Amino acid sequence: MARKFLIRTFGCQMNEHDSERLAGLLVADGLEATDDLDEADVVVLNTCCIRENADNKLYGHLGHLRSLKAERPGMQIAVTGCLSQKDKGALRERADHIDVVVGTHNITRTPVLLREAAISGPITEILDAPDPVEMTDAAPALTAVRAVPWAAWVTIQTGCDNSCAYCIVPSVRGPEISRPIDDIVEEARVLSSRGVVEVTLLGQNVNSYGRDITKRRPLFAELLEAVGAVEGIDRVRFTSPHPKDLRPETIAAMANTAAVCNQLHLPLQSGSDAVLASMRRGYTAERYLERLAAARREIEDLAVTTDIIVGFPGETEEDFEQTLTVAATAQFDSAYTFIFSPRPGTRAAEDSSRFIDPDVIADRFERLHLVTERSALAKHEERAGRTEEVLVEGPSKRDDAVLSGRTRQGKLVHLRTEDAAAKRPGALVEATITRGAPHFLEAEFLRVLAPSRTVRRLELRPA
Ligand code: 5AD
Ligand code: SF4
Repeated sequence: MARKFLIRTFGCQMNEHDSERLAGLLVADGLEATDDLDEADVVVLNTCCIRENADNKLYGHLGHLRSLKAERPGMQIAVTGCLSQKDKGALRERADHIDVVVGTHNITRTPVLLREAAISGPITEILDAPDPVEMTDAAPALTAVRAVPWAAWVTIQTGCDNSCAYCIVPSVRGPEISRPIDDIVEEARVLSSRGVVEVTLLGQNVNSYGRDITKRRPLFAELLEAVGAVEGIDRVRFTSPHPKDLRPETIAAMANTAAVCNQLHLPLQSGSDAVLASMRRGYTAERYLERLAAARREIEDLAVTTDIIVGFPGETEEDFEQTLTVAATAQFDSAYTFIFSPRPGTRAAEDSSRFIDPDVIADRFERLHLVTERSALAKHEERAGRTEEVLVEGPSKRDDAVLSGRTRQGKLVHLRTEDAAAKRPGALVEATITRGAPHFLEAEFLRVLAPSRTVRRLELRPA
């Protein structure tokens, strides 16, 4: 009987996609995926270290796995990703029941290392720099076990060359490296031939894509056009761009490439120029709002989401009020708000005397939440009466009789229909929005625009 594996993923979409690639390699190695921890022979924890609570979560999981492994000695545990890269050998000092520790630059080596560890004992393999083989090997992307058959993530770049004072990513993911444009387009073609209609281009700083491979700029705009031209790819999204690098050419490519969705995730981080300067973000609040206005002017019906950090060291009440003002002015469709978390080795973590009192942070967090929820609701209520294209994802999580999907703006929609073609995940339908809530829309089904192209998976197991 095949050994079974389970991957738990923490952190960002980049990590989710790394887990998909790793799952594909484990399947190619003869293992079988399971959702049930009790029957897993191999457990991989693919970790994140962006905020401290991600660290805590991992050590909590490892504690639970220790007792499980004591009962089932054949079980193997691998820890991969950002936290491995950060903690290196210290990880095994805290948890000596881990079999394999792999960092961010060689995650695709995990299956081989698991086999070696089964023979010769625990292995830690952390590289200090990106592995050229990992960077150029297309196989893990093409064999990835993807969460859904109609949408796919495509890595366009790894690492980050910025030096935001709060961020640990550059130290764990290394310098920015772009994948060749032809490889990316080819991957999109292959995905399309398998029924994928939506791709999300992934990178830490997508609009500086290509800076390391050519002096000719701007390559990101060209990439958007090239992926948008792939037959069968109806929707192109990307995450995340940096406001300082959002060039007019990128905005123009978004506006003029039909497949590129009218959605932009543009992290603000703070609305105070003093805080932005100590964060080393490279823009002022005014500049951010100008870029946003330019994007909204050029791109029809653009939805904008953002990230904001509350309680950055030294943030005064006045600074925070500026964040509230900018957030209210920007009228985001939704905002991810984070409490500042000091990360080892980052500039912002150096001087604890500048840290903000947790009660003050909690209060600010709540006030910001009110502002961003208000604009989200207003933006969603504004959609009522519009007819929108919805990519069907399947029955809603709460109610089987309700269908869920996403509009081109990336908004979650719930609708009801008995139309069999509309119900197939991956179908594109048209619906009229009837109501907007803070985090979703409700709609009335009109018609199917394009049936699902996804292939039903063959059941390989004997009946
Ligand atoms: N503390 C809090 N939030 C952070 N982010 C990144 N680093 C930190 C940190 N140290 C947030 C930023 C980023 C998002 C992915 O996570 O807002 O855009
Ligand atoms: Fe993603 Fe950053 Fe977390 Fe790594 S540390 S998983 S790059 S969010």
